[in-house]
Amino acid sequence: GTFYRFCLEPVQGVPLMKPIVNDWKRVESFQARPDDFLIATYPKAGTTWMQEIIDLVLHEGDVEKTKRAPTHVRFPFLEICSPPPVPSGIDVLEKTPSPRLIKTHLPYLLVPKSFWEQNCKVIYVARNAKDNVVSYYYFDQMNKTQPDPGPWETYIEKFLRGDVAWGSWFDHVIGWWEAKAKHPILYIFYEDMKEDPKREIRKVMTFLEKNLSEDVLEKVVQHTSFKVMKENPMANYSSMPDYIMDHSSSPFMRKGEVGDWKNQFTDAQRKMFDEEYAKKMQGTDLNFKVQI
Ligand code: PPS
Repeated sequence: GTFYRFCLEPVQGVPLMKPIVNDWKRVESFQARPDDFLIATYPKAGTTWMQEIIDLVLHEGDVEKTKRAPTHVRFPFLEICSPPPVPSGIDVLEKTPSPRLIKTHLPYLLVPKSFWEQNCKVIYVARNAKDNVVSYYYFDQMNKTQPDPGPWETYIEKFLRGDVAWGSWFDHVIGWWEAKAKHPILYIFYEDMKEDPKREIRKVMTFLEKNLSEDVLEKVVQHTSFKVMKENPMANYSSMPDYIMDHSSSPFMRKGEVGDWKNQFTDAQRKMFDEEYAKKMQGTDLNFKVQI
């Protein structure tokens, strides 16, 4: 297959990469199974971190079992689609035995309806907008299938307009926040995970109906720390070929911090961003603790 930076086209107003749009009918009609488990995020919100936590909790802290395959193999990516012969997420999932672990970046309204009909469990991770946009900017440089981010000054505007892959951060975090009133969704914040990983891992454990000892919980905390995951070839995306992810332009495991946006935003950008943020978040009771 040939890889290149795909362009974006809207599906119900949400910009998605062209191969996903081409295959949209299959995504839309995807058949979920009742024991499917979905991890949903806006890109760069802490997906990989939460995936490692979920897998370890399900395997009761058995690190060797979570090293059976890289993250993207353990959790097939529902909507992802590349030109043939690379199999689409749907192709892979149709052949995956239950219980399936599935990753998606789709906003709530675009998630295949069968997930809700089957009452599937979902964990959603949200990250504050400023750190999220910075992380996405560096990722769009290193991920060679995503549109070129261009200069930071214009990227930040594209992000605020929702003119990036998977659309508006605002619609995403708010859509899923409201959806949790109707479906079994555990909504977790990246900043909470940084503040007290054990507390948040306990929430995951309870949601997955597992009962782990203090020792095992401690092991999960250690194994899913940024430092350990950065060195774990099954969790750091080093197994992706260079023509998809070029870790030399920016590593996938970049910094893993809260507040890194301060190294990227100018004062003027911060002011502009805060004004847009206030407008777009008006009327929601979704609050990020790090209003920095
Ligand atoms: S993706 O491509 O959407 O699946 O990316 P995602 O995993 O959501 O986000 C990547 C960012 O998460 C950071 N990360 C972590 N932070 C803290 N602890 C752990 N264990 C961890 N693992 C990944 C990763 O470094 C990216 O954030 P930035 O700010 O760019 O470093």
